[in-house]
Amino acid sequence: MNAAVGLEFNFDDIIEALAGPGIGIFPHFIDRNIVASLRHDLLTLPAGELTPAAIGRERDQQTNERIRSDKTRWLEGDTPIQLYYLSLMTRLQQALNRQLFLGLKDYECHYALYQAGDFYKKHVDAFRGRGNRRITTVLYLNDDWQASQGGELLVYTDQGSGVQHSILPTGGTLVCFLSEDFPHEVLPAQRDRMSIAGWFRIDDPIAPALHL
Ligand code: OGA
Ligand code: MN
Repeated sequence: MNAAVGLEFNFDDIIEALAGPGIGIFPHFIDRNIVASLRHDLLTLPAGELTPAAIGRERDQQTNERIRSDKTRWLEGDTPIQLYYLSLMTRLQQALNRQLFLGLKDYECHYALYQAGDFYKKHVDAFRGRGNRRITTVLYLNDDWQASQGGELLVYTDQGSGVQHSILPTGGTLVCFLSEDFPHEVLPAQRDRMSIAGWFRIDDPIAPALHL
């Protein structure tokens, strides 16, 4: 847990995936002890700190609730394990900028708790030419997830028709994709489902769409 955090990580597979298909799924990306600490951090947040998520600039809570029912809390570096994760993502940002010239300026991420039955309907994280999210990351924090428990992340093809990936939210799995290119949804699960969803952003909210 220091400035050198992440030096032991190899980001080459992520870079290759983003430059190629635009999406990559990396089981066991993070050590199980780190995953357990993040999960513990989420589960010990003071009561009331996990709140119904907002969608983009959507202020209408009723609209929100039809689209997603999870609860979220931004990571602000309040605990050592949050600082660890944020600095790991900063190192990933540096690697992406160095090798793919993405011009990423910052990273924001939140814990998400989907209680049994919660969902997030099909959506994209950024619209072409609007908003400034370029790359989405999702890290799962769930111990011993079984396929029968549901809660898959379904990722659709760019055109939005077929399901391209169905991903179980197994602890330690990291998913990265170009935020504008992959509609996705979270299916309801039979047990609580925890993740950290994050976005690398560029500065200019109206910058033209990026094509790798
Ligand atoms: C999101 C999201 C996916 C997940 O927060 O935008 O799509 O599997 N999360 O938690
Ligand atoms: Mn999303």
